[in-house]
Amino acid sequence: MTDTLQIDIHPIEKSRIDTIDFDNLIFGRSFSDHMLSVDYQNGEWQTPQIIPFGDITFSPAMMSLHYGQAIFEGMKAYKSESGEILVFRPEENWKRLNKSAERMCMPAVTEEIFMEGLSELLRLDSAWIPAKEGCSMYIRPFMFSTDGYVGVSPSKGYKFMIFTCPVGAYYTKPIRVRVETKYIRAAHGGVGFSKNAGNYGASLYPTKLATDAGYDQIIWTDASEHQYVEEAGTMNLLFVIDGKLVTAPTGDTILDGVTRKSVIQVARDFGMEVEERQLSIKELTEGITSGRVQEAFGAGTAAVIAPIATIGFDGVDYELPAQSANSFSRRVFTEIDNIKTGKIADTRGWVMTI
Ligand code: COI
Repeated sequence: MTDTLQIDIHPIEKSRIDTIDFDNLIFGRSFSDHMLSVDYQNGEWQTPQIIPFGDITFSPAMMSLHYGQAIFEGMKAYKSESGEILVFRPEENWKRLNKSAERMCMPAVTEEIFMEGLSELLRLDSAWIPAKEGCSMYIRPFMFSTDGYVGVSPSKGYKFMIFTCPVGAYYTKPIRVRVETKYIRAAHGGVGFSKNAGNYGASLYPTKLATDAGYDQIIWTDASEHQYVEEAGTMNLLFVIDGKLVTAPTGDTILDGVTRKSVIQVARDFGMEVEERQLSIKELTEGITSGRVQEAFGAGTAAVIAPIATIGFDGVDYELPAQSANSFSRRVFTEIDNIKTGKIADTRGWVMTI
């Protein structure tokens, strides 16, 4: 990567930062002053622009609105004690964005545009990166088709954008999740591995049914038998069973989560055995009852590490033991958080310093 990319910067006249209550950040409701915007036209990416965060205009026939050519990523940035901007594993997100792009017939974003656009944006809005414990700067890169055309085919024009939000916790307490056995998220050959907007749109109805019943989230099961754990609506799922870390293998139905792979790496570094294998709902529920399942938690950029308190299945609520200081989920959270915030050495090369 060279540092030669031209980026046109149009700074805001007056920052909105004074209007933000940094002590009461709600996830995803506050947006920093600027955003990155890059158009893809005539087969190539145009000069990236950094402009004030704000509304954009488009044709009512814009194809992404009709046929769902829209993909996104989620990343986080932190400020170290010495004031450096630290971004957690952005290369993984860049690679995954391009995997999603390929599946959705969209152009790849160059590493230069992604990394330099991101770095410049974060530099400009560095005052927005929260310093408070448990808070961070959530980064949302996304791409969508922009042609106004009603035929079903890949668009010729696209827009790649990044905006950022200072955020607090996504989940503020251990969550209640319900096993979904009617609706599906992804089938083999589909788009489950890609981070396309439609995957999340399709999750809303079954999630609403679960939240109406008093749960926070759902556990998706496999599309053919509804027997095996896949992932939750907002994160991957991991379990500690008989002292081993167990999680569903990524394939074409499961998102290859950056936090998931970081948790697996840290578990191995802690000397813990990791099993990436199918986990049946039967094994899970029987294991909670017998005590073999010691922990269940979600892992994602937004959710970070989200301990699960209850798993509902077939009208029964299975209660997990409360998280303790010694729980793996607590220890892995602390390890990853310390790396992200620069409190311990980044021996795995996970942090990009700006
Ligand atoms: C993330 O964790 O960054 C995600 O994209 C999940 C999102 C649905 C909040």
